[in-house]
Order: sequence, then structure tokens, then C-alpha cells
Amino acid sequence: MNDPKPALTARPVISSTGLFTPAESITNEELVESFNRFVDRHNAANAEQIEAGKVEPLAHSSVEFIEKASGIRARHVMAKGPILDPEIMAPRWDERGDDELSIMAEIGVAAAREALERAGRDPKDVDAVLCAASNMQRPYPAMAIEIQQALGIDGFGFDMNVACSSATFGIQTAADYVRAGNAKSVLVVSPEITSGHLNWRDRDSHFIFGDVATAVLVEDEAIAPAAHWDILGTRLKTVFSNNIRNNFGFLNRAHPETADTPDKLFVQEGRKVFKEVVPMVAAMILEEAERLGVDPQALRRLWLHQANAGMNRLIAHKVLGHEASEDESPTVLDTYGNTSSAGSIIAFHLHSEDMVAGDTGLICSFGAGYSAGTVFVRKAA
Ligand code: COA
Repeated sequence: MNDPKPALTARPVISSTGLFTPAESITNEELVESFNRFVDRHNAANAEQIEAGKVEPLAHSSVEFIEKASGIRARHVMAKGPILDPEIMAPRWDERGDDELSIMAEIGVAAAREALERAGRDPKDVDAVLCAASNMQRPYPAMAIEIQQALGIDGFGFDMNVACSSATFGIQTAADYVRAGNAKSVLVVSPEITSGHLNWRDRDSHFIFGDVATAVLVEDEAIAPAAHWDILGTRLKTVFSNNIRNNFGFLNRAHPETADTPDKLFVQEGRKVFKEVVPMVAAMILEEAERLGVDPQALRRLWLHQANAGMNRLIAHKVLGHEASEDESPTVLDTYGNTSSAGSIIAFHLHSEDMVAGDTGLICSFGAGYSAGTVFVRKAA
């Protein structure tokens, strides 16, 4: 462990990132085929009630709608079989003992190890682990502390949940620790097993999410590798909204996954989210660029939150002043789906190797809360 000292001149940078991608993936075709089997079974089982007008028939989902409305073509998941089984339609795995590494920690550790390796950082020189994600597997002990222990890190860790903006809020928190001299090396880990909170029986949203884990190593420039990213500035914003909501929690009696408790899983008013979040985020980016003295139109690349291709197109257009190319605003939505807070980090991880010293870009998240975060970065070498 480092010897963090009050050093208010410390400059936080991003030393590296890591990514864990589950081996299994579900295409839209597979997803819709399973969903439509569920619909047919449901309608057949309730034929009399439907005939009598007492039960609404369910409607088929469609591959064309999903691709057109969202830009999503496939999503990685931790448990494909049970999700596609019309009798289950939820992820399932054997429950692990308390002495075994939990599934969320396992994928977080995998992403973290890659970030550590890429930075050439020994875990014993990391000071803190933040597990920043939209769904925690349990209330405590913190996932972050389990990840910390599995990696052999001497320091501290805690969990934080800001839904889709968890990773950017985590990066600012880590950067503040570095600035204040409370840490020199902080891992922000975002294991997002979003398949657990998704209602796979809901036609409006069953196609949205996928599973993944990312890690970002935020460090004092003094110890960072030469090929790091300077953090020019971070900005966070929250505005309360019920348009994306999940009422699951141990204070609620009803169990999720039953037809009468869909609110204990992810629920959204997608149209309202689209309309309200796009202008809020575009304005926030432009204000922050001005504050930092960065010309938004000269940004080399935007690594935007990956929820909807149309939203990203609009936001990128408002920021850059023209229709963004795939090179300027890369998408990972097509193969990963919406991975909540991990989305912009996956985009950054997979699409930043070609950037050269001096290139400036933006990592940006937005989602439930509402919450939004911007991290302006510049390639150092
Ligand atoms: N298959 C076929 N048709 C479907 C469907 C499906 N799976 N789901 C909905 N439809 C239908 C609706 O019934 C509706 O039909 P109608 O016009 O006859 O009433 C029509 O398609 C349009 O539905 P709507 O929900 O308004 O679609 P949309 O164009 O707004 O797209 C989202 C839906 C969710 C993809 C889009 O609103 C979105 O991505 N919003 C932002 C969400 C976001 O970022 N959330 C953050 C999550 S963290």
C-alpha cells in the first residue's frame, strides 16, 4: 500500500481500464423467439379469460422493432439457458457458499486484474476499491471489500450505486481521493449483472440489458504509467425522476418475477427518458466544456453511455455540431446492449488505443435518478 499523504497538488489520471465479457450472448432472434413462445403459452393458458375480455392478450415482440428503436442486436449474459427458457425467463446459477467468491465479485475481479496488468500495477500498491454499480448482489459485506480481498489489496473499499452513472460518479470520487491525498491508486470496479433486474417477460424492455464488468484505475500522475489519460475535469448531476425505477428491496414483502409485482424489477417510461435526458446531458456537456476551456467541436471522441443509439446520435450532434461518425462516437450497444454504468467505459476501453498524445475526449454517462456524469480526458503520451 502507498503512504497517502495530504498532497493537494496531486493530479488524478486514468492509468488503465479492464473489461470482462461473459462468454454467452443472446441475439435478438433468439430473444424474440423465446419471448414469443412465452406469449403464445400465456395466451393459450388464458384463452377463456381473454375471450371473456377479462385478461389482455400479450403481444409478440419483434427483432425489427428492437433494432430500430434501440440499436441493440445482441447482449452478453451470465446465464443464457434459464433466461431463454419460457418457464424461467431469469438468470439462474447455483447459490455459492459464503466462503466462495460471489459471482459479482468474480467478474469484477476479472476486469480489475486486466486494468492492473495494463498499468503494471501490483495490487499491494492500490489503496482503495470502489464497487460502483447499479445492482449489488447483497447489502453487506460490501462487494468492494470482497473484491479488495480477492485481489490482495491493503486499504479500504465500499459500494456505491448511482444506477447508470455509477462508474463516472466512482471516477470523480476516486479522483477526489487522489486530489486530497487520501489515496494514490484507486480501482473503480463496475460489475453489472443487469440480467437480474430486467423483466424478461416485459415486451417494452426485455431486449434492453446485458451483463459485463469494467474497471478503471484512477491514480496520482506521479505513480501512473506514461501512457495514461489526464483527467481534465469531472462533473456530476442528479435530478429526481420516477421515469426509470426499480422498487426491489428487503423492505418490500412481494417477491419479484411474479406477474403482479413487475415494479420490483426495472421499469421505465422510455419515451420520457429519451425526451428529458437528451437535452439535460447535452447542456451539461457543453457547460462543462466551456468551464474547462475545451472546444466541444474539437473533441476527438465521445464515449457515451450505451442505452440507445438514437439518444447518442442526438447528444453527439448537439456537442460536435454535426452528425457524429462511428469513429467520433463509437457504439458497443449493438453487441453488448445496455450495460448500465459499464457502457461508456466499455466504449472507452475498446475504442481508445488509436488515440495519440494530446487527443481530448469525453466519457459520459446518464440514466436512472436521473443521474449524469462527465469525465473529460486527454491522452498524455
Ligand atoms: N416489439 C415490438 N413492438 C414493441 C415492442 C417490442 N419489443 N416494445 C414496444 N413496442 C411497440 C409499442 O407497443 C408501441 O406501439 P404503439 O405505437 O402501437 O403503441 C411502439 O412499439 C412504440 O413503443 P415505445 O415504447 O414508444 O418505443 P420507443 O420508440 O420509445 O423505444 C425504447 C423504446 C425503450 C427503446 C426507447 O424509448 C429508449 O431507449 N428510451 C431511452 C431509454 C433509456 O435510455 N433508458 C435508460 C435505461 S438505464
